[in-house]
Amino acid sequence: MAVVAVIKERRPGETRIAVTPDTAKRFAGRGVSVVVEAGAGEGASIPDAEFEAAGARIVPTAQEALSQADVLLKVRAPDAEEVSTLKSGAIVVGLLNPYQERPALEALAARGVSAFAMEFVPRITRAQVMDALSSQANLAGYRAVIEAAEFYGRALPMMMTAAGAIAPAKVFVMGAGVAGLQAIATARRLGAVVTATDVRPAAKEQVESLGAKFIAVEDEEFKAAETAAGYAKPMSAEYQAKQATLVSDHIRKQDIVITTALIPGRPAPQLVSEAQIASMKPGSVIVDLAVEQGGNVAGSRPDEVVVAGGVKVTGFANLPGRIAADASALYARNLFAFAELLLSKEGELAPDLEDEILKAALVVHGGAITHPSLQQAA
Ligand SMILES: NC(=O)c1ccc[n+]([C@@H]2O[C@H](COP(=O)([O-])OP(=O)(O)OC[C@H]3O[C@@H](n4cnc5c(N)ncnc54)[C@H](O)[C@@H]3O)[C@@H](O)[C@H]2O)c1
Repeated sequence: MAVVAVIKERRPGETRIAVTPDTAKRFAGRGVSVVVEAGAGEGASIPDAEFEAAGARIVPTAQEALSQADVLLKVRAPDAEEVSTLKSGAIVVGLLNPYQERPALEALAARGVSAFAMEFVPRITRAQVMDALSSQANLAGYRAVIEAAEFYGRALPMMMTAAGAIAPAKVFVMGAGVAGLQAIATARRLGAVVTATDVRPAAKEQVESLGAKFIAVEDEEFKAAETAAGYAKPMSAEYQAKQATLVSDHIRKQDIVITTALIPGRPAPQLVSEAQIASMKPGSVIVDLAVEQGGNVAGSRPDEVVVAGGVKVTGFANLPGRIAADASALYARNLFAFAELLLSKEGELAPDLEDEILKAALVVHGGAITHPSLQQAA
């Protein structure tokens, strides 16, 4: 019987957990034993008793859980001490941030552990249920609007009162992928007037279907901008200049700007300049979701509120961690679906490394970093 372990995430600010009582129960149903470090669910408000009721075993320390693990399920990459406690031949699955956290992968390789990065799960139909980037980005998009509303000293909806009317806030979402579309929907629900931009032509229809207005230079380059895999392509300097002019004129009239632009494996494109920030009204708010990938906004810093000319630029590095119970619930379901590919019918460890999904997500195996895109980066 394979042992799946989950421990408390020790990264500062990481409140999520990789297994919930719901998935612990599912693992038990698959004939898998689950060990949980005592208190591991605190950040997501899950008491040990709920894990026990789901059939999991609580152990007092992380070391005890790690030393028994055939599969360690994590939110973030394990630290050096955690890796040193794992059995050689164990499997680690998590959001390993492989492009930015190479030393963690090297430590796993040196320990003889195999590791799968959830970021590399391919966006194919069969893997939709495992798409952790999307489940987390969805919640991040929602939470970004809640944070913006918190920092904005005014209301988002239009309000008619006996003392006069309050105009609705103008919200501009830059990057209409998973996080951006959820941000648009949330801002609309709160009553804001919402506009959005993206470099993918397909985004226009999605933005409009949510009741927001699409803002973009729609030239020939724009019309050809989407790759076969559905991702954005890097745009030419000329396109970026035209788009920046259009956006500059738009941004200065906005109350809240939420940026989510990303091209996988590359630093985030800078979309909002210092001059554009300076053009906004005091009291306006910018939330930069791409802050961990270098930021879409000039001067944004992880987990800081930078005030420039009265405009608050916020960069929360871990928005899903600020909605930990729901983020954990979805992430744990993504991981359970993925972990099923590692198991035999009898609940033994039996990964088929030729499986398309496992193959795409495998980053460390046989003592080396194996993923092709990470070889190029080396
Ligand atoms: N801060 C957090 O807590 C948190 C949480 C989840 C995701 N994120 C980040 O949010 C960002 C978006 O994630 P996602 O899952 O929605 O990604 P996604 O790939 O679904 O969406 C990104 C969108 O940006 C668009 N884009 C790329 N370049 C652009 C440009 N120059 N101008 C306008 N749009 C552009 C793409 O076309 C795409 O639609 C990523 O940087 C991700 O790492 C942050």
